[in-house]
Amino acid sequence: MNVMEAIEARRSYRVFKQDPVARTLIENILTAGGQAPSSANMQPWEFVVVAGQKRDELSQMMLSSFIDQKKNYDILGKDNFFPQQLLDRRKKFFTDIFKKLSKHNESPMKYVMEGSLRFYNAPIIIFVFIDKRIAKRFLFDIGACVQNVVLAAQSEGLGTHLLGLVRKYQDAVKKTLHISENKEMVVGICLGYPDMENRVNDFTPGRADLDQFVEWFGI
Ligand SMILES: Cc1cc2nc3c(=O)[nH]c(=O)nc-3n(C[C@H](O)[C@H](O)[C@H](O)COP(=O)(O)O)c2cc1C
Repeated sequence: MNVMEAIEARRSYRVFKQDPVARTLIENILTAGGQAPSSANMQPWEFVVVAGQKRDELSQMMLSSFIDQKKNYDILGKDNFFPQQLLDRRKKFFTDIFKKLSKHNESPMKYVMEGSLRFYNAPIIIFVFIDKRIAKRFLFDIGACVQNVVLAAQSEGLGTHLLGLVRKYQDAVKKTLHISENKEMVVGICLGYPDMENRVNDFTPGRADLDQFVEWFGI
């Protein structure tokens, strides 16, 4: 699979098989992540790969905390400004995915929120960290690195799903895994073999046309 094919095939998978993923494969994928460009080659990314009992423990901890607090996260934050065009795209995304999921589940919102904290049942969760004190300055570098990981995984026949929601629980994750207070969790990456027989994995939200996000001059 070449890069364009991996870009086209990639999506956020929501159903994973329980088949284990070989450690050498994970190493290859993370090596691809490490090939990303970064400011002055400082390579500010740090990965924590979690499987098995620890993975289950963390997922359970997040889920029970979510359920206990009956949290309905306002992911956007009340006081933040968002351009209307982006809010419209978000609305369309939720309308479309809820249509898809309501055929399979009673409560799509529950499925998405709790599914995120179940790591969509992927056998591996990879937490991506950066030193808190440089986080703002180097987020672009982390994004480039994570995209390499995601595309490398796709090209190896694996699937991923990025999770921002897990950041809410990063203090507990750091405590459990003995990670320094100075680290900031940027994102979680669910990793595993996607179950392509499950129709939930067919869901591919569309994208804006080029003319909505590109301006041309002199060409
Ligand atoms: C930084 C980031 C955080 C995300 N966090 C979550 C999350 O917490 N839960 C979730 O279900 N999906 C999450 N997603 C997945 C997006 O909803 C998904 O990428 C988007 O809808 C586009 O769909 P696609 O990846 O299938 O193309 C996240 C994606 C990104 C890039």
